Amino acid sequence: MMSDKGIRTYVLRQGRITDAQRRALEGDGQRFILPFDGRTLDRVAAFGRDAPLVLEIGFGMGLATWQIALGHPEIDYLGVEVHRPGVGRLVSDLIAQELSNVRIYNHDAVEILEKAIPEDSLAGIHLFYPDPWPKKRHHKRRLIRPGLAELLASRLEAGGYLYFVTDIEDYALSALETLESVQMLANHHRGFASPQSWRPETKFESRAAAAGRNRWELYFGRRAGAAPAGG
Ligand SMILES: C[S@@+](CC[C@H](N)C(=O)[O-])C[C@H]1O[C@@H](n2cnc3c(N)ncnc32)[C@H](O)[C@@H]1O
Repeated sequence: MMSDKGIRTYVLRQGRITDAQRRALEGDGQRFILPFDGRTLDRVAAFGRDAPLVLEIGFGMGLATWQIALGHPEIDYLGVEVHRPGVGRLVSDLIAQELSNVRIYNHDAVEILEKAIPEDSLAGIHLFYPDPWPKKRHHKRRLIRPGLAELLASRLEAGGYLYFVTDIEDYALSALETLESVQMLANHHRGFASPQSWRPETKFESRAAAAGRNRWELYFGRRAGAAPAGG
């Protein structure tokens, strides 16, 4: 499925799916997965209640996803990931942890943002090491880039937050510049943020740290009364 003028932000990794992941996806775990039919998400039908909703883009194996959800039962979490083994892994952890406040789209997050998520509807957006595009010439593939940054911001409700973490310095600097130029957003920190106390280490992050790579965090808020352009 192509997204945003045909440029995907991901390369679909093959990655072997384990028997446990397949079992989770085929059995009872299907209840966590939302079929995407191009229509707007019905939150009450999906979660069985109307609670604050946080979107996570590119959860990978979902380690941080279920840990955050476990610590915040009052919040609903919507994870979006194209990598099927990762979806299977998160589903098996959701079953093991008996969590009911997480749902998953196994689909391109850009199309989900465009079609399934209404404007002014999210309490937060998590982008933890979201895409593998280290080089300047990869700018057009990044999730935080002009155009997509406005799309992300427009889905936040007033007071909602956008939390971005990367281990790529060039991406961190360009994301800071891009997000600071979005009228709807305000930087809650001077430049880069320090880690939020509630954020556990992600799988990718522990690998990056073991390889000696640095980490940059951005934490922005949606301004009250800032309407999306054209909205
Ligand atoms: C480097 S991994 C990091 C995974 C995880 N957040 C972590 O920190 O361990 C980035 C993930 O983002 C996913 N991804 C990138 N762009 C995406 C998109 N447009 N829609 C859904 N998933 C996407 C990739 O499939 C990949 O699994």
